[in-house]
Amino acid sequence: MADTEVQQDVARLGPWFHNLDLNGVRTAPDHFLGDYPTDKFRRFADLLPADLTGRSVLDIGCNAGFYSLEMKRRGAARVVGIDSDDRYLAQARFAADTLGVTGIEFRNLSIYDVAALGERFDLVIFMGVLYHLRHPLLALDLIREHVAADLMLFQTLTRGPDSVAEVAPDYDFADDAHFQDPSYPRIAFVERAWASDWTNWWVPNRAGVEALLRASGFVIEDGPRDEVYLCRIGPVPYAQHGPVTVYPARAPEGDAAR
Ligand SMILES: C[S@@+](CC[C@H](N)C(=O)[O-])C[C@H]1O[C@@H](n2cnc3c(N)ncnc32)[C@H](O)[C@@H]1O
Repeated sequence: MADTEVQQDVARLGPWFHNLDLNGVRTAPDHFLGDYPTDKFRRFADLLPADLTGRSVLDIGCNAGFYSLEMKRRGAARVVGIDSDDRYLAQARFAADTLGVTGIEFRNLSIYDVAALGERFDLVIFMGVLYHLRHPLLALDLIREHVAADLMLFQTLTRGPDSVAEVAPDYDFADDAHFQDPSYPRIAFVERAWASDWTNWWVPNRAGVEALLRASGFVIEDGPRDEVYLCRIGPVPYAQHGPVTVYPARAPEGDAAR
């Protein structure tokens, strides 16, 4: 495809959040975060295995497919990118086509419906989505319960101190000191908008992120690096008391697969 054709299609499919290089045509050259996510990825890329040959990858909230494309380049045998926004999925399909990358399945599926995939993946990528969700812990529980087979690459917007309080196994009912401690796990609730975006709901501190990951059955193996963690599945706390996640494994509308 000639550059001008690519340029026209990029404009037609925009605005873009991922600044991809489509054979010399940049999709979001004026991104407020710079060359995003290329610059960010450079800062934590070594957290992931360099060679994913034969592995399967699920990219949740794939947007225009930057991470799906990268994982395919690392040799992944199966890559599925899901997003709830058809506009971003159209961008992802167009980017893969333009770059001649085949074999990535992009589909419209909400994080809350991942059970409908009926499959576990060696690597789940869950980057930049958690704070957009009204039910963040449910999302992590669903990933752990239905789709994570081994590793999860995770990132969420984080604010507050970098210090992490040691959390005791239990506290007395009258004890309030830990709630006053800024290093205790916290998640700020954004009732209105944040950064001009009403889809931002929750902003955890570092202790809060790490507590959420542990509480949903993930062990932090590495990170944070620029807010990014590499996690591995581990035991789900309190699982002996019964299932933590109660949510129907709903298939997307029009999809007969359940
Ligand atoms: C900030 S972007 C992050 C994109 C990419 N993962 C990254 O880190 O660059 C958030 C993405 O999550 C998608 N998203 C938001 N809510 C979702 C949901 N409930 N299920 C699936 N995707 C969702 C949005 O459409 C958007 O593409």
